[in-house]
Amino acid sequence: RKVIFSGIQPTGVPHLGNYLGALREWFRLQQNAGADDALIFSLVDQHAITVHQDPKQLRQWKKESLAILLAIGLDPKRCILFHQSDVPAHVEMMWILSRQASTGYLGRMTQWKDKTTNLIRGNSTSADTPKPGLSLFAYPVLQAADVLVHGATHVPVGEDQVQHLEFSRELATSFNHSYGKGILTPPTTLISPAKRVMSLVNPNAKMSKSAVNPKSRILLTDSTEAIGMKLKSALTDSVEGVTYDPAVRPGVSNLVDAILYTSDGEYGSQEDVVRDLQGASMRALKEKAAESVERAIGPVREQYFEFIADERMLREIATDGAERAKQNAGVVLKRAQRAIGFDW
Ligand code: TYM
Repeated sequence: RKVIFSGIQPTGVPHLGNYLGALREWFRLQQNAGADDALIFSLVDQHAITVHQDPKQLRQWKKESLAILLAIGLDPKRCILFHQSDVPAHVEMMWILSRQASTGYLGRMTQWKDKTTNLIRGNSTSADTPKPGLSLFAYPVLQAADVLVHGATHVPVGEDQVQHLEFSRELATSFNHSYGKGILTPPTTLISPAKRVMSLVNPNAKMSKSAVNPKSRILLTDSTEAIGMKLKSALTDSVEGVTYDPAVRPGVSNLVDAILYTSDGEYGSQEDVVRDLQGASMRALKEKAAESVERAIGPVREQYFEFIADERMLREIATDGAERAKQNAGVVLKRAQRAIGFDW
């Protein structure tokens, strides 16, 4: 039996990278899941507050992110969809695991190093607090708690989460070594084919919710015109023709990838896309990318506007999801608590 778990931060409307790198894979897993498999997807608001968030904004994002999960086709009857802070077991498990978490290892995490360099240099991208706090440092321990407390066997993510999941596996193994075999399950990471969608303005950086320039990302709620406009202004280069070479032509290669991964099987590989666009101008490449992206995410946008208008339904789904998530997380949490001697 598979237990599929993954999470996304409710820190804005998800973008094309979130969709191709994660959300669409969640949907595919749902469509291919066996009757016994569990599908658990969390809006990780506890992770979101490891940097400063405006409370009003956070409330809005929690709602919008849930509407997006429904809009991409996740079925609340089939999946457990919930906000992380509604299920205290995550934080309780995190504290238990913290004993196992080496501060040296945490300090070497790429995301910690990136974020703290930005915070310290003052390149902070949102209303971040000027100095990184304890929770940002402990972020990967909470992420490990997320997957371990639900007994996840498989975790679908983009490439940037691979290191965090390796850390989760090591925590599980180390906990089991101290307290007993089989208490925690080291999960398998599932990396999507579109594992790293790059920024449209700086194709050497990944597309991200927190980058300053909104033209760097395509949001799942962007209109057809906005998608066209952002892709039209995407940074490419002055080499003639379309080729695929991410190291030398990151901008062009990112657009080739975008076409491939939104083509719905029309193309089997980057080479297929390049062959089709041989000799095409940058403008034609961008137009083709805009069409392809619109075809893939247009239907998500339409659905989103229906779901976001129905607040009552969103609340019901969140309440029901939280209840089911509590039940599921309770099993492993109890087991871990007993193993460490809390059951006197
Ligand atoms: P987050 O919210 O940054 O991103 C959500 C998912 O989107 C993927 N992703 C991308 N994939 C390809 N290209 C990109 N440019 C891109 N940007 C984001 C991410 O890899 C992720 O799968 N720490 C996690 C949230 C989390 C989590 C978990 C994930 C918390 N607990 C437990 C899995 C399991 C995060 O910040 O994702």
